[in-house]
Amino acid sequence: MQTSSDVARGEGRNAPRARRSALFVPGDKPRALEKAAGLGADVLILDLEDAVAPASKAAAREAAHEAVAAWRGDAKEAEHVLRINALGDEHFGADIALAAAACPDVVLLPKVDSPAALREARAALDGAGYHGLVWAMIESPTAVLNLRLIAEMTSAARLAGLVAGTNDLGAALRCRFSGERRDPLLPHLAQILLAARSAGLIALDGVYNEFSDPVGFQFQAREARQMGFDGKTLIHPSQVEPANRAFSPSPQEVDWARMVVAAFDDSAQAGRGAIAIGGRMVERLHLGPARAILAASGDRS
Ligand code: COA
Ligand code: MG
Repeated sequence: MQTSSDVARGEGRNAPRARRSALFVPGDKPRALEKAAGLGADVLILDLEDAVAPASKAAAREAAHEAVAAWRGDAKEAEHVLRINALGDEHFGADIALAAAACPDVVLLPKVDSPAALREARAALDGAGYHGLVWAMIESPTAVLNLRLIAEMTSAARLAGLVAGTNDLGAALRCRFSGERRDPLLPHLAQILLAARSAGLIALDGVYNEFSDPVGFQFQAREARQMGFDGKTLIHPSQVEPANRAFSPSPQEVDWARMVVAAFDDSAQAGRGAIAIGGRMVERLHLGPARAILAASGDRS
């Protein structure tokens, strides 16, 4: 049955809403704001935080208001997210006033370290008049340690997603990376995913800074999908199409899903929990994932 929280998260009766590609668009770059709607990203994250220089914060807020309104017309299919400055930052008050006025689908809260910080940010947003959903960025060692408590705030804070802030987290942990590999971060990414799935939240992977390296991007996106992430946050238009591809079902997955659904629909298999398909065991529990793959591929059979 479809619940009210499903509706709030855009999970309808059919395909759940796709969040394969979530593009950060700096609030102080007019050309990027203008271009964003036509890039095919599932999610557009209008950034007022780290992408914007301190001197440009006020101008970015003004541009953000206009851009969110314009996206409602030009990028209707995309989910519109506003990343504000963190609680405690001098710009937080003006940012939440803007969130109330512009009313994006989601407000992305950076640097959420604890349930108390999340509760405080939620109360401030409600006080300002923004009652919509929030996503939380997990980007510090303390936040990773507090993941379980943060995820427990799902209903109280109207929290709908966790986003890995891999640049901040990697810097705080003093990780060393080589190229596209981020092995030192994988245990922490896994915990973000674990917390998200246990609370029914969406989970988005961090960004890949080397936007001129398609091979490295493909490696990271594939890794994130294998871990179970819904999509990847992005910094450049060139990453949108590869992300959409990486987080869409492959033809082989669609073939497998069709076989599983057909096999369990077969009256000869009625009442069976486990069956054999092509020399492999398939259990009834695989029906849900198979149907999800078909829905994500646009196949309604
Ligand atoms: N969203 C929308 N459009 C973007 C974009 C973005 N994130 N990044 C670049 N573009 C546009 C540019 O405006 C440019 O448009 P044009 O050719 O029509 O004039 C085009 O894409 C090509 O951009 P390019 O010249 O390759 O990039 P750049 O060197 O100007 O900028 C970055 C590179 C990384 C600085 C820029 O992509 C950016 O600011 N990304 C977002 C950073 C961010 O949000 N960080 C915070 C989250 S980690
Ligand atoms: Mg950050």
